[in-house]
Amino acid sequence: MDKIFAYISQNQDSYIKRLAEVVAIPSVSGDAKHRQDVVRMGEWLVQEMTRLNVSTKIHHPGKQVLDGVELDLPPVVLGTYGTDPAKRTVLVYGHYDVQPALKSDGWTHDPFTLVEDEQGRLFGRGSTDDKAPIISWLWVIEAHQKLNIDLPVNIKMCFEGMEESGSEGLDDIIYKEAKDYFATVDCVCISDNYWLGTKKPCVTYGLRGISYFTLEISGPGRDLHSGVFGGTVHEPMTDLVYLMSKLVSPNGKILIPGIYDEVAPVTDDEHKLYTDLDFSVKDIHQAIDATNTIHENKQDILMHRWRFPTLSLHGIEGAFYGAGAKTVIPAKVIGKFSIRSVPNQKPETIKALVTSFIQQEFAKLNSKNKITITELSAGPAWVADVKHYNFRAASKAIETVFGITPDYTREGGSIPVTLTFQEALGKNVLLLPMGRADDGAHSINEKIDRSNYIEGIKLLTSYLHEISHAQ
Ligand code: BES
Ligand code: ZN
Repeated sequence: MDKIFAYISQNQDSYIKRLAEVVAIPSVSGDAKHRQDVVRMGEWLVQEMTRLNVSTKIHHPGKQVLDGVELDLPPVVLGTYGTDPAKRTVLVYGHYDVQPALKSDGWTHDPFTLVEDEQGRLFGRGSTDDKAPIISWLWVIEAHQKLNIDLPVNIKMCFEGMEESGSEGLDDIIYKEAKDYFATVDCVCISDNYWLGTKKPCVTYGLRGISYFTLEISGPGRDLHSGVFGGTVHEPMTDLVYLMSKLVSPNGKILIPGIYDEVAPVTDDEHKLYTDLDFSVKDIHQAIDATNTIHENKQDILMHRWRFPTLSLHGIEGAFYGAGAKTVIPAKVIGKFSIRSVPNQKPETIKALVTSFIQQEFAKLNSKNKITITELSAGPAWVADVKHYNFRAASKAIETVFGITPDYTREGGSIPVTLTFQEALGKNVLLLPMGRADDGAHSINEKIDRSNYIEGIKLLTSYLHEISHAQ
């Protein structure tokens, strides 16, 4: 291991150069204008995988309509490195698409040019989420080849370009390949999350699910002048704002009756888990650049992030949002909100409760407007069995690289495919993060620290070696 670690340290500038190359490809899956860039990013991976003798199989998941344009979904890139039946096979997953980013959002530099500051922070969209982690799997293979060291496991890869947009088309492919391309997989590792704080590595065993809704209210056949029609028509926006205000209280409690009924009760053992974690209220204040947290202690904060459902209001399509005073009555508005769900909540129950509550509240308004509630996407929460060798291997690897015993964490975010792998393949899934809590994924000035990237490549290396013999 020392030889490989030394090689990785010596080659850090070449890893950073190649991270800069991929950050320069603006693979924004949620923007039709960037679809070709997402495809180009997939091709970059195929080219690198081919150079490293990884055999590839490309799936084209079909089409989608985005901003009124019909587009091909980006390719799902599968890879196989090694087929020795005497070795274990690890499936690694990651996504090569990124969130949108504009300099005008408040970035200090161009988001698609990797810039390193004097503290060794590498800024760029996708640096931590999820480009450094996915390419690192390739650098592990490369290091073994350069040093002529045999990899003690077979690797299967699954890289997609739609994760930030709900992983459209991926579930079908996984189910289709479960008994075929993925038949030999023994366990799954995903590096697509972050340490709980900024100093201590962790392994992650749970994620929340997400149910995303739109609430459309329409009335007049066209936008109207408020001076002429205000007070004479049922205004869609007034109905919508009223309904959205009924969903969640300002202190974060979901107001939909019955929504907490299915939530698995918190056990005494679980309570203890939260006290020892390397996390403080200060960490969260740092992460949000403010102090307006609802809860006062770390247990409550983490419980509400990992363990309880939450409802967030995201936006209103069709509402006037420009500068200045426009006296319009919008004819149609679409409210957007999502519920992050936890074990044992079922998306079907959530949908039924949300729909009937909103309809009931709407009926009270006696409004002549039309209402449509749509569940755009939904996936349940995921929790893994931490008593599996996959987790022991990851913990050992963290001890080897960082010299400390990791925290076991959950996350409040969602990676829909995590549960799909667990269920379709029937194998243990583990999250092994590279980046830190303050990386700013999805935000302005997203970064990964040079040390997290380079030590992260060592971590993935060590993990694969541990997997080969973990009990
Ligand atoms: N890397 C994140 C998942 C994540 C978020 C892990 C926060 C840990 C903490 C991933 O790229 C992501 O943002 N997922 C989306 C999924 C959604 C579009 C279905 C999310 O959580 O909003
Ligand atoms: Zn991600």
